[in-house]
Amino acid sequence: MRHLYWENGALILLDQRRLPTEEVYITCRKAADVTHAIATLAVRGAPAIGVAAAYACVLAFAESATSGNSIPQQSTFNAATEALREARPTAVNLAWAVDLQREMYATLLAQNASYDAAYQALLLQAQKVDSDDLAQNKEMAKHGAALFDRPVTILTHCNAGALATGGIGTALGVIRELHLQKKLITVYMDETRPLLQGARLTAYELTKDNIPCTLICDNMAASAILNKKIDAIIVGADRITMHGDVANKIGTYGLAVLAYYHNIPFYVAAPSSTFDFTLKDGSQIPIEERAAEEVRQFQGVCSAPQNVAVWNPAFDVTPAELVTGIITEKGVLTAPYKQAITKLKEKVKQ
Ligand code: MRU
Repeated sequence: MRHLYWENGALILLDQRRLPTEEVYITCRKAADVTHAIATLAVRGAPAIGVAAAYACVLAFAESATSGNSIPQQSTFNAATEALREARPTAVNLAWAVDLQREMYATLLAQNASYDAAYQALLLQAQKVDSDDLAQNKEMAKHGAALFDRPVTILTHCNAGALATGGIGTALGVIRELHLQKKLITVYMDETRPLLQGARLTAYELTKDNIPCTLICDNMAASAILNKKIDAIIVGADRITMHGDVANKIGTYGLAVLAYYHNIPFYVAAPSSTFDFTLKDGSQIPIEERAAEEVRQFQGVCSAPQNVAVWNPAFDVTPAELVTGIITEKGVLTAPYKQAITKLKEKVKQ
């Protein structure tokens, strides 16, 4: 499924707000178009946001520079990419991708690069972020599937699939690999209120690929674990700290508590670009709070009093103590996480 690609100087995105009922593509010709697409969740999922942002930096450059002239100073490029970098606060892949392009820009300035050379270099780096993500998904899938030596039933939350990445997915990549290896009985997915990424997107991906799955409401997870022989929970992540605390879609923490109580493993699948090596622990992760209408309404129709107060955090933080393992492209990390993540950091910087 091609849901995010570069064509004729524009970024093309499958509009995830309209799935599963309509498959409509939007064309982003300006960085602001991508910023808007990220903020409104037309493109979402931490790695996909990072890939989209890397391409958006090419658009930002083309808007702020003039062909034939020398390329503008760093502050101009930084200003042109600032709103993009701030479009959503929790997924670290967004700032990571913009910072990668800013570093590239600094190198290009030092080399006195021409407009054309700079455009090509930024585009090449965006394409590399994209292709690296696909390769990392495949590695994660293999490492994750190797954790199971018999057919299993998995519970997942939100959408950590192809739509959320540049590849086959993080959590769903592992699930796809289990299916390929005939080690998957079925998948239970939470609908994931309020925006239904599980019902709209995970169910869309899995049914399209004929992977056995069953949709449940979020409040059915505990009963499903008790009654449906769930062997493990696998989810994605938006940001992971040095301590191993994991920010992911709201509801993930509750699932981790359930896994602990029912004594089943709770795995997180995430590429190294989702680790924030600058943060000590989960208390430092900024949690996005979204509009009250997302909770007061159901698909645009009022489902609560219009003036009721609402708290709508888009993510929660699962403490490292509840995480059985973190499946990365470099292998599966286990406690003590500080040591494991320090080693990962060293490998990534090499
Ligand atoms: O608000 P969203 O849909 O961007 O949230 C997405 C998630 O929480 C995913 O689980 C996470 O980004 C990992 S995607 C591989």
